[in-house]
Amino acid sequence: MKDFNLDSTRIPKHVAIIMDGNGRWAKQKGEMRIFGHTNGVGSVREALTAAGEIGVEYLTLYAFSSENWSRPKEEISALMDLLVQSIYNEVDELNSKGVKLATIGDIEFLPESCQKALEEAKQSTKDNKKITLILALSYSSRREISLAVQKMTNEVVKGELDSSAINEELISSYLSTSDYPDPELLIRTSGENRVSNFLMWQLAYTELYFTKILWPDFKKKNFYKAIFDYQKRERRFGKTSEQLLDSNA
Ligand code: IPE
Ligand code: IPE
Ligand code: MG
Repeated sequence: MKDFNLDSTRIPKHVAIIMDGNGRWAKQKGEMRIFGHTNGVGSVREALTAAGEIGVEYLTLYAFSSENWSRPKEEISALMDLLVQSIYNEVDELNSKGVKLATIGDIEFLPESCQKALEEAKQSTKDNKKITLILALSYSSRREISLAVQKMTNEVVKGELDSSAINEELISSYLSTSDYPDPELLIRTSGENRVSNFLMWQLAYTELYFTKILWPDFKKKNFYKAIFDYQKRERRFGKTSEQLLDSNA
């Protein structure tokens, strides 16, 4: 934090991260892909600590996409085991740091052991207030939007919802992120410049930050660097620079 002189009045409330590059990190070291995933857990801890220290209120981490179910079954099962083990290992730490755990995605598609670990950790951390850690697991943005459309349509058919009431705010309230503000900043590691079906509705005006660093190498200082970069940007929301200067005057 000291290295970057962050402006404490312009800390994003919500940061989302696509944690990518674990497999390549392991390959570079001549190891199996899961070695990269295991080492990625340390980076989760770093990002969460860094976010908490500067007052970020919501941190959403893309941990497993719906598309990731097409990976080799050995990798999927190793990832799920790692998730369960990490949750049990970290729950005391989450509580001591005031972290409330939440999830988005099709949690019911995860193995029973994962669902149980997540449920217990959510229950144990539910009263924490400092920061909410939202894990995106078996998550697909297009699926999330499709489910919201299904739900709204059903309610319209039943006469519970007037179709003319469907606007941006209402759609947001039908998404799994309805309790959270949209992210101001999205970070993606590993040099891939794409969104990969993550929070597509919610990212409409999010600042995007791409770094070549592979996820297991992403440390607190890298997180602060991304925040510093975000703070240098002018968020115009369709207006002109001059209009923004006038409204600040
Ligand atoms: C991100 O790292 C973690 C998950 C998607 C679960 P990858 O496993 O995608 O690593 P690369 O992109 O193959 O290097
Ligand atoms: C996105 O990473 C999903 C997660 C980080 C969990 P991927 O590695 O699966 O994305 P693509 O396939 O390269 O777009
Ligand atoms: Mg990847």
